[in-house]
Amino acid sequence: MRITYYGQSCFLFETAGKKVLVDPFITPNELAKHIDVNAIHPDFILVSHGHADHTADLVDIATRTGALVICSYEIMVWLNGKGVTNVHPMNLGGQRTFDFGKLKMVFAAHSNSLPDGTYGGTAAGFIIETEDKVFYYAGDTALMQEMKLFGDMYRFTAAFFPIGDNFTMGLEDAIIASKFIKCDTIVGMHYDTFGYIKIDKEEARTKFANAGLQLKLIDIGAEISL
Ligand code: NI
Ligand code: MN
Repeated sequence: MRITYYGQSCFLFETAGKKVLVDPFITPNELAKHIDVNAIHPDFILVSHGHADHTADLVDIATRTGALVICSYEIMVWLNGKGVTNVHPMNLGGQRTFDFGKLKMVFAAHSNSLPDGTYGGTAAGFIIETEDKVFYYAGDTALMQEMKLFGDMYRFTAAFFPIGDNFTMGLEDAIIASKFIKCDTIVGMHYDTFGYIKIDKEEARTKFANAGLQLKLIDIGAEISL
């Protein structure tokens, strides 16, 4: 899978010839000023929860591209009110096969409201199974016991974990989470965007390495393959 990072928790996944954008928050991100949001043409948009640092560009990109938005039922209703109608609702534990692969919406230990205060349902993460790989995009979450269950159920290629602390897991808990899901390749997200979540990247990599794990911190606008 080809992965491009757009800052905060926003990634573009390219797999099976499809482009899947996750948690679009680009234009308000001071660290992502060099990204041309209009050059991003996803076929699908996944939304983990409604907070502005995950949805700021959602309505604009969905409207411009007509991409199928996959999110909670509650976020779908909110999007419909904004004129975005190509939306697929899911809820926790639900699994469905799309053109890019098999997607399961899973629990995330976090809150969930839209920027105007509308209730957004339960915050979520995603487990994405492609032809030969399995990825866990945790969304905004605390460390939680459910991760042990995911570790028993799947053999993960890599996981996307928030590491910025304060609003989500920090480094120490993300390392424990990596053990829970039995995955040694972690892509960091939800760090450095604003003051509360600034991290020391070198220290973060070292802490993971000392735990026998690889922490990948992708430059904003850069891509990697996993
Ligand atoms: Ni959040
Ligand atoms: Mn967030």
